[in-house]
Amino acid sequence: MWGGRFSEGIDARMAEFNNSFPFDRTMWAEDISGSMAWARQICAAGVITAAERDELLRGLQAVYDEFASGAFPAKTDDEDIHSAVERRLGEIVGGVSGKLHTGRSRNDQVATDIRLWTMGAIRRADEAVRMVQQAIVDQAKAAGDLIIPGYTHVQRAQPILLAHWLLSHFWPLERDRQRLADCYARVAILPLGSGAIAGTPLKVDRNALAADLGMLGISANSVDAISDRDFIAEYLFCASMIGIHISRLSEDMVFYSSAEYGFVTLADAYSTGSSLMPQKKNPDSFELARGKSGRLVGSLMTILTVLKGLPSAYNKDLQEDKEPLFDAARTLELTLPVAAGALATAKFNQAALQRGLDDAMLATDVADYLVDRGVPFRTAHKVVGQLVRMAEERGVKMVQLPLEAFQSVDSTFKADVMACFSMAASVAARTVPGATGPQAVAEQLTAAKACLGVR
Ligand code: ARG
Repeated sequence: MWGGRFSEGIDARMAEFNNSFPFDRTMWAEDISGSMAWARQICAAGVITAAERDELLRGLQAVYDEFASGAFPAKTDDEDIHSAVERRLGEIVGGVSGKLHTGRSRNDQVATDIRLWTMGAIRRADEAVRMVQQAIVDQAKAAGDLIIPGYTHVQRAQPILLAHWLLSHFWPLERDRQRLADCYARVAILPLGSGAIAGTPLKVDRNALAADLGMLGISANSVDAISDRDFIAEYLFCASMIGIHISRLSEDMVFYSSAEYGFVTLADAYSTGSSLMPQKKNPDSFELARGKSGRLVGSLMTILTVLKGLPSAYNKDLQEDKEPLFDAARTLELTLPVAAGALATAKFNQAALQRGLDDAMLATDVADYLVDRGVPFRTAHKVVGQLVRMAEERGVKMVQLPLEAFQSVDSTFKADVMACFSMAASVAARTVPGATGPQAVAEQLTAAKACLGVR
């Protein structure tokens, strides 16, 4: 492909080091589609005849079919996907294959291929994230008015609806899908026509080329276009954030499924056993989902580090952009359907949720009782703090303290204070949009469902 000025062959270890075909063959469909569009445009520009174009298209289709059926005859010295396709095209159509690369460089070709590939990866990631969101919505619907202890600092805080907790994991994923869509607009920009650095001398219509490839626009500067990999960093940030959101959901599921909490039971289909301890049923689905986020963040660090300090235009370092990208996309495609399935099949246990609800979680409601009767919140906070301590010292629950005990710390308390000790009342009092009150949560659920519509 580039041997003209060389008198010696390449060192075997250098070839192995240099060749990207073992991993960039992943982009075979994008590489061939890009070449087909290029053949059509250089024909429109009068560079090749219609007959030559058709011959190139026929050959490219044959190579496409070979890859699609797994019959592509790879050679050990195929350097990358671009040269492998061109080599095979030559074997199929002969000399005319030498015209395909006119006015093009592997620099603008590879940039085009990865962008096309990333466009597909974004569409797949969006669909996979949506599956997890769907599982959350289904569980939230099924949760009805069940109440779960809400934790801050992993300490019992306030009662909330189980549906509210579930949906708290929906919105981060919704932001991830928005981020993916936003990123897509910057990915779907065509670099082809930039040549090696200076732009092609052929009079190709780059906008027509972009439209042919389903892209939204064309790059503004050929030097930038051939080395811009910002879009990979952006995609990997989106993937990392998705990974982190799934990891946090997983962490909750791991500890809620432990015997200590017992809030949820995972389906056997998403658990595994221990080779030593017969009683064990481990939440491996969520543990692995949590663990995979590390490799997504690692991929983001890889690309950022590759890009830092690169001189302008194309440098071979950029070949290191692909493995983190491919690995992240595959990690998402493995992780998200499992997270969705494990969540969809999990069963929440009403009795355990009930047991987890401790009166002390209603201390804020008792303070609110005083506030409603004109006591400044700071005073109310202190008063209820004293009651909590008194109950602790007597070894009873706050609700078991006699009314006189309440009145001994603040005379505002009347017998109706006992009505504060209701989880349902505590939840129901929180009616503002975004709060855990049943009506607000029903509205939240409606909004969440609307996000799952076709977009
Ligand atoms: N395999 C290369 C890559 O992934 C293709 C571009 C090679 N360009 C070059 N000037 N050697 O980046």
